Amino acid sequence: MLGKLKFWKDKDISTLSAEKVKKGDIPNHIAIIMDGNGRWAKKRALPRSAGHHEGMKVVRKVTKLANNLGVKALTVYAFSTENWKRPKLEVDYLMKLPEEFLDTFLPELIKENVQVRIMGNKEALPQHTKKAIEKAVSETRDNNGMILNFALNYGSRAELIQAVNRLLHDVKNNSTSDEITEEQFESYLMSNELEDPDLLIRTSGEQRLSNFMLWQLAYTEFWFSDVLWPDFSDEHLLKAISEFQRRGRRYGGI
Ligand code: FPP
Repeated sequence: MLGKLKFWKDKDISTLSAEKVKKGDIPNHIAIIMDGNGRWAKKRALPRSAGHHEGMKVVRKVTKLANNLGVKALTVYAFSTENWKRPKLEVDYLMKLPEEFLDTFLPELIKENVQVRIMGNKEALPQHTKKAIEKAVSETRDNNGMILNFALNYGSRAELIQAVNRLLHDVKNNSTSDEITEEQFESYLMSNELEDPDLLIRTSGEQRLSNFMLWQLAYTEFWFSDVLWPDFSDEHLLKAISEFQRRGRRYGGI
């Protein structure tokens, strides 16, 4: 009985804060560096894969709340170009997660009108991972709710170099102007259809960008937390957004 009472109390607190947060300015685009899965598992004497699995469930939870709050795009850093350096067993597990995530949650995402996208070098992904993602992208293409953008085999330096090479190629072919502007350059980035993130969240106490959206984060507000990603809750997201709402964004002006 007591347990039941506590459950409802927690739920009410969370609902109240969401309503409060909704009254303020909601970031259009939130980007998240989901860090701390390994440490979460280690603390529990579990294999690192257990931390990644728990982290996957948190992605679902955060997607739901962000969508309900009216966030337009959520980018999650699921695998970096540097993550290939991890032991093969861990890489193989991480490459299976998108499939498991989509097998489990795609019907719900479709119902909630979420549009799935991917940002990164797809060609180097295992066939099974690519297939699962492409299926999700295609089945959610016409949804016009929040964009859930997976940064998968993504690295910002590789993205910038690819953009420069493609731009050079088009300049040589006279298919674009050689007076390079910011807007033109941005159209060559992997995030070209998204606005820049308004809020960046990184968990686990680390305070660095780890080759994530270096161009796009130029004017983004950063929110760092010691919480390990698998422990990231609705309350953490609400706290990050409410802190964002207190920041004065001046973009270099006064
Ligand atoms: C960093 O934590 C996390 C990653 C490299 C993987 C992130 C992946 C997920 C959260 C799973 C979500 C995936 C999908 C497809 C929904 P870490 O392993 O570096 O943690 P540590 O620093 O504590 O070792």
